Amino acid sequence: FSLRDLNTFGIDARARHYVRITAAHQLAALLGEPRLAALPRLVLGGGSNLLLTGDFDGLVLHMASSGREIVGASGEHVLVRAQAGENWHGFVEWTLAQGLGGLENLALIPGTVGAAPIQNIGAYGMETRDVFHSLTAFDPATGTLANLDGAACRFAYRDSLFKHAAGRGLIIVDVTFALPREWRPNLRYAELATELDNALASARTGEGVAEPTPRQVADAVIAIRRRKLPDPAVIGNAGSFFKNPVVSAQQCAALLERHPALVHHRQDDGSVKLAAGWLIDQCGWKGRNLGPAGVYPKQALVLVNNGGASGADVQRLAQAIQADVLDRYGVRLEPEPVFV
Ligand code: EPU
Repeated sequence: FSLRDLNTFGIDARARHYVRITAAHQLAALLGEPRLAALPRLVLGGGSNLLLTGDFDGLVLHMASSGREIVGASGEHVLVRAQAGENWHGFVEWTLAQGLGGLENLALIPGTVGAAPIQNIGAYGMETRDVFHSLTAFDPATGTLANLDGAACRFAYRDSLFKHAAGRGLIIVDVTFALPREWRPNLRYAELATELDNALASARTGEGVAEPTPRQVADAVIAIRRRKLPDPAVIGNAGSFFKNPVVSAQQCAALLERHPALVHHRQDDGSVKLAAGWLIDQCGWKGRNLGPAGVYPKQALVLVNNGGASGADVQRLAQAIQADVLDRYGVRLEPEPVFV
């Protein structure tokens, strides 16, 4: 079974077995079969944070369940739930259409709702964990469903329980978010604040400054993303290919002495996050190709498939970039997508 249309890198790898899951109860039935349960397993959502490095000799479970609903209230929050297979951006648009703010900074991120908690998707000053309430996961080891709250999911920057041994086997079935009744824009990310200011200034009729709406913030996010990030439907990619590296304050100070323009952001815990895109850009990789894989010309953090690239081609490019950044800055870049 070709996985080419099921991963946003557009890599033409094959799977031995493929099943499309449209309802949670199918998991229990399927994985109750000892023969199927014993196969190596790959749970696939939108395939947007994945690098297929070869054929997959096992069972692909494609999560394609749909459904989204307002399920209730909890204090200051409205609780909304979506099934794992729902498209993430479609879900964000749906919440906005319900008059609910809270997810607008995460507009236009590729992938599914079920995948969002796995890497704690984040952009423009917020992460999944900021609006997360709980999720339901199927545990193939016990054949039962479990409810996990935020603490149980152990969220961190582009990381969670589900990327580690203790949670890797769990299959996320649905996710519930807690959205604020009293919405306030989150404009901590300077580029977003500027984008919104410009959009509102050109729309303003001289009446004075109005508070932005969630819709307007979403539109500003969408405009920035369209400008900087390649549309996977047009050019294969998995978003940021590397995480932004976190270094100690001392290491950052030493780097700043030699590279005063180093883009860096201090974290609450005293460590410093560096912009991997800047490091890669400075090494001259932006817009460069290595075989059929390349670095996107408008954002050095994104590796692209220029057509016909294999997972190995992308890996070769990634390793060349890692070697150059390590050599020049002494910083090790860690890939963001999951390698299969
Ligand atoms: N920069 C360069 N050259 C480049 C790219 C970036 O100099 O080619 C500099 C920029 O000028 C800026 C800094 O690096 O000063 C940061 O760039 P940007 O604002 O584009 O964000 P990023 O750090 O590259 C991160 C996330 C994105 C997310 C944006 C916005 C990671 C790994 N990436 O990118 O997430 O959309 O911030 O919040 O944290 C993703 O995870 O797939 C993703 C796209």
